Amino acid sequence: MVSTADPLSVTPADLRIRRLGEPAILSPMAGLVQGRVSSPHYVHESDRVLLDDTLGRAEARLCGVADLPSLEPGGPREYIYFDPSRTRAGIVTCGGLCPGLNNVIRGLVLELADNYGVADVVGFRDGFRGLAGPDVTPVSLSREVVSDIHNRGGTVLGTSRGDQDPALMVETLVRLGISVLFVIGGDGSLRGAAKIASTAERLGVDLSVIGVPKTIDNDIPYLDQSFGFQTAFTRATESIKSALTEASSTPHGIGLVKVMGRHSGFIACYAALASHDVDFVLIPEVPFLFEPFLRELRDRVRQRGHAVVVVAEGAGQDLLEYDGAVDASGNARLADIGGLLRQRITAEFAGTGEELSLRYVDPGYAIRSVPANGWDAVYCLRLAQAAVHAAMAGRTAMVVGRWHGRFVHIPIPVATGSRNQVDPNGDLWMSVLEATGQPERLY
Ligand code: F6P
Repeated sequence: MVSTADPLSVTPADLRIRRLGEPAILSPMAGLVQGRVSSPHYVHESDRVLLDDTLGRAEARLCGVADLPSLEPGGPREYIYFDPSRTRAGIVTCGGLCPGLNNVIRGLVLELADNYGVADVVGFRDGFRGLAGPDVTPVSLSREVVSDIHNRGGTVLGTSRGDQDPALMVETLVRLGISVLFVIGGDGSLRGAAKIASTAERLGVDLSVIGVPKTIDNDIPYLDQSFGFQTAFTRATESIKSALTEASSTPHGIGLVKVMGRHSGFIACYAALASHDVDFVLIPEVPFLFEPFLRELRDRVRQRGHAVVVVAEGAGQDLLEYDGAVDASGNARLADIGGLLRQRITAEFAGTGEELSLRYVDPGYAIRSVPANGWDAVYCLRLAQAAVHAAMAGRTAMVVGRWHGRFVHIPIPVATGSRNQVDPNGDLWMSVLEATGQPERLY
């Protein structure tokens, strides 16, 4: 496992994409790419996308331009590895829901069918579980089956958390004649995908495993943004508006909104910026203590007559008791910071004798069970197209993503080797501080 938290620790070797073999078959997409060269809007397959995007970081590498770490670009290739007429593809969705899952499924099916002539696509039910049993019965994913699924939230394939035995899963894939597997999942599921790829390699099975990273938390590194994130925070913004309406319609009103975000506070930050009516944002990456926070909150209510607080579910966990519980994916089951804040705010105002109308809003799962918005729908489709191009070209053990605006191939260990988090010293958090006016330190 590579630790990828600091991009400077990522080397060119870490970014090498595994190939099953030499792509020697002229692609049905060849006509689209022949004659194209790299431009500000296209990266040719012979070119690379730089990992670093500032001169300072590139200079810190102390190497020549050719040795700078870079990523393989996504997109159609002139030559492919798999013969479309003999290719059977499988799709599985894993982990928690995320807007856009059905868009990705549909995008994969249609790209395979329409542009490569791969019409034999199956879906596995309920995550990796659907790949592991002896009586696996995948569903056929035809054009007709996926025709309108992109208008719905959730995943038509079902999903579950948790790993399964990779050897059993490879056995199923071999039995069903699958040569290309698309895994749509978060970091845990992508690690599972990497195990399927390495098991296949060890057993000499010609299998391409391509991940499409999924997380509303936007916590996968080396992606500009993960699909579904934008839809999720936009939906969270509606809850903030409700909280503001409530808070501003009563004397001394406080709207407290709890949003998802286990270890990364992107949803809280973006929803707060989108509404631009929030007084405090509390996220896992920035510690706070009750005493300074409650003091500032009281002051804000005195000055403005009301206040809105947005808290990510993973914020302030050090202020709560953790019982060690984990979910099927191995994620810590978080203690309830929303409930504790509610108690502490109520007690604080009762203690000072000041009037308080506290309205607690927890949109919970509502932010991730909705269909993708327009932006995410486009992104999901383009990720699906890039995933199909990579698979047909014989790439494996990688995910597709967009980095610095370019579609790229990222090895799974790099995408799962660290977590994307809000940097307390970064410009996103600075924007939040500017927009809310909350003090930089609440401890
Ligand atoms: O990881 C994404 C996420 O939406 C987190 O923000 C949240 O903590 C978690 O999933 C909840 O998922 P579930 O309750 O389905 O396990």
